[in-house]
Amino acid sequence: MKILVTGAQGMLGQDLVPLLREYGHTVVGTGHAELDVTDGASVRAALELHRPELVIQSAAYTNVDGCESNRLDAFRVNGLGTRLLAIGCQQLGAPLMYLSTDYVFDGTGDRPYIEIDRTNPQSVYGQSKLAGEQAVQELLNQFFIVRTSWLYGRGGKNFVDTMRTLGREKPELAVVGDQHGSPTWTVALSHALARLIERGIYGTYHVTGQGATTWHDFTRAILAAEGIATPVRPITTAELGRPAPRPAYSVLENLNLQLAGVPLLPSWQESLETYLAQTRAVVR
Ligand SMILES: NC(=O)c1ccc[n+]([C@@H]2O[C@H](COP(=O)([O-])OP(=O)(O)OC[C@H]3O[C@@H](n4cnc5c(N)ncnc54)[C@H](OP(=O)(O)O)[C@@H]3O)[C@@H](O)[C@H]2O)c1
Repeated sequence: MKILVTGAQGMLGQDLVPLLREYGHTVVGTGHAELDVTDGASVRAALELHRPELVIQSAAYTNVDGCESNRLDAFRVNGLGTRLLAIGCQQLGAPLMYLSTDYVFDGTGDRPYIEIDRTNPQSVYGQSKLAGEQAVQELLNQFFIVRTSWLYGRGGKNFVDTMRTLGREKPELAVVGDQHGSPTWTVALSHALARLIERGIYGTYHVTGQGATTWHDFTRAILAAEGIATPVRPITTAELGRPAPRPAYSVLENLNLQLAGVPLLPSWQESLETYLAQTRAVVR
């Protein structure tokens, strides 16, 4: 299948594009400079040139705190950009796969969210990503909306690399212990996306590493695996005082993935081990 991926130079895009090729697809990976999703003419030109059979919208304004002070830009990229792509897909008759986030939920629950649970984003980032979901739902009847969470991968600056570097440099780390979620490795996510495309059952999906943790316990696992003895002190979200509100509990049950017969991702611990083993030599 011919697939066009937006945001191909992003963290997910850098693992997704080569992996889709391994699955036998012809992939056009477009970076920001080649395809600006907020520019209707740029979107039209790219879709007319490549005529993909599926578009994956991975481009996004992902700076969660930055979105709070740049609301218009966040909605322009995540909302309008996705809408323009959906219109392009409509004209082409091609399905769209849209990457969304656990931050569409408010995080006040105490059990994993399923796909039909009520969304109620608290941050501008979450709201703008939900605007993207709504554009896809309004304009297309052949789409995948894929909500994922806490991504890390070798194609971008990420939490795992930051913590193993800081763990070596600092005498102590203070990390938020009251947010619960599921770390997800971009490679494991990419495999699930490829399998979802093969299954062809359109709809909304939660796709995350299995199991849940806090940023604090995640950090402890990273340092333990690396043999770093630096103590990690739990702090509260309020103590950290970031501009954007984060959900306290945004664990996603991957219910529809199971129903579609797509294998669940490995546990977050297993993927972390693999990622650390693969990248150890590079970061050291
Ligand atoms: N990272 C996470 O923890 C996480 C969690 C849940 C969901 N997601 C979603 O998963 C997807 C991939 O995330 P990621 O971590 O790979 O993001 P990322 O590393 O920030 O990559 C996003 C890419 O989009 C590009 N981009 C920004 N504005 C654009 C525009 N107007 N037109 C075209 N490209 C544009 C960026 O290019 P420039 O840098 O050049 O602007 C960047 O290469 C996103 O949709 C994100 O919302 C991420």
